[in-house]
Amino acid sequence: MHKKIHNSSILVTGGAGFIGSYVVEELLKSNPAKVIVLDNLIRGSYENMKSFIGNPVVHFVEGDIRDTSLLEECVAGADYVFHMAALRINACAANPKEGFEVMLKSTFDLTELCVKHKVRKVIYSSSASVYGLAQHFPTPETDNPYNNQTFYGGAKLWGEQLFRSFKFMYDLDYVALRYFNVYGPRMDTDGKYTEVMIRWLDCIRDGKAPLIYGDGSSSMDFVYVRDVAKANVAALVSDVTDEAFNVGNCEETSLKQLLEALLRVNDSKLIPEFKEENTVNPVSRRLADNSKAKKLLGFEPTVTLEKGLQELSQWYFEKKKASALSI
Ligand SMILES: NC(=O)c1ccc[n+]([C@@H]2O[C@H](COP(=O)([O-])OP(=O)(O)OC[C@H]3O[C@@H](n4cnc5c(N)ncnc54)[C@H](O)[C@@H]3O)[C@@H](O)[C@H]2O)c1
Repeated sequence: MHKKIHNSSILVTGGAGFIGSYVVEELLKSNPAKVIVLDNLIRGSYENMKSFIGNPVVHFVEGDIRDTSLLEECVAGADYVFHMAALRINACAANPKEGFEVMLKSTFDLTELCVKHKVRKVIYSSSASVYGLAQHFPTPETDNPYNNQTFYGGAKLWGEQLFRSFKFMYDLDYVALRYFNVYGPRMDTDGKYTEVMIRWLDCIRDGKAPLIYGDGSSSMDFVYVRDVAKANVAALVSDVTDEAFNVGNCEETSLKQLLEALLRVNDSKLIPEFKEENTVNPVSRRLADNSKAKKLLGFEPTVTLEKGLQELSQWYFEKKKASALSI
């Protein structure tokens, strides 16, 4: 139970999404007076909110953060805001104008409204994408962002800077969290931008050789979604402000190793097929240095990749079974 959360009113934009729904669950453990979830359900779902949608403390508002008057209704009266609504990296690349409206303009409107309505603290979902290909591995927060080439990474960095400037100008407290590669149950399985682990789980289920594009050496730092939710709560309850933190698992896993781990936890003997890479991935490595989050927020990830992949696999296969039965 966290005193700051107890009896407080909290807005979670994007709270019907993958990470947001776990943040809401984590907040509810400390008995807040009210949690408002604002989400337009372009990716979020009622299914994600199953555990709390009937809870009288939770007010779900189906709407768009680009609707400024609706956004103001949601911000007014909130003590704290988690700003998680965003487009995915590929969606920003496919439609940068929409990316601008959702990632930049709406974040600006939200920030102004937080000042106007005297919100006590904002927790902003940033991303390791701000680094592009980082200079150091493990990557500390002090690595510079000049290698980022994506609109999404640029937008996230701008969001961080926006909050910094509003702290400086209006004393709005905030913490930005740079998530690395978040995975776990409720990750997107059917959308246009489904992650590689879901495609591999389909191969395991169907007994088909999983495909690896390139030599499988590019690496990521996979952090389990419940750990990310805990980092969000730690950022809220601490007195730290005006800081950005990495949130990773501090373990570098190549795509090849990821597939091996996925096959291992599912007792599968499938042999991967390698295909020529058809896109250029400018970010060939990711590895977080979380020491700042450990020191200032007391945050440390607790779920190993194997354990996380087991939970993901179990959830995914059950979900597929249930949807096959309902057809
Ligand atoms: N998943 C990751 O690996 C990862 C990594 C780094 C950063 N992040 C960031 O974390 C946050 C949460 O990501 P996620 O993985 O849960 O993604 P997600 O797509 O599941 O969640 C985002 C939510 O925002 C909602 N949304 C999008 N546009 C909206 C709009 N205009 N108005 C209202 N709601 C809108 C979506 O419906 C969705 O429920 C995002 O800000 C994302 O950029 C995620």
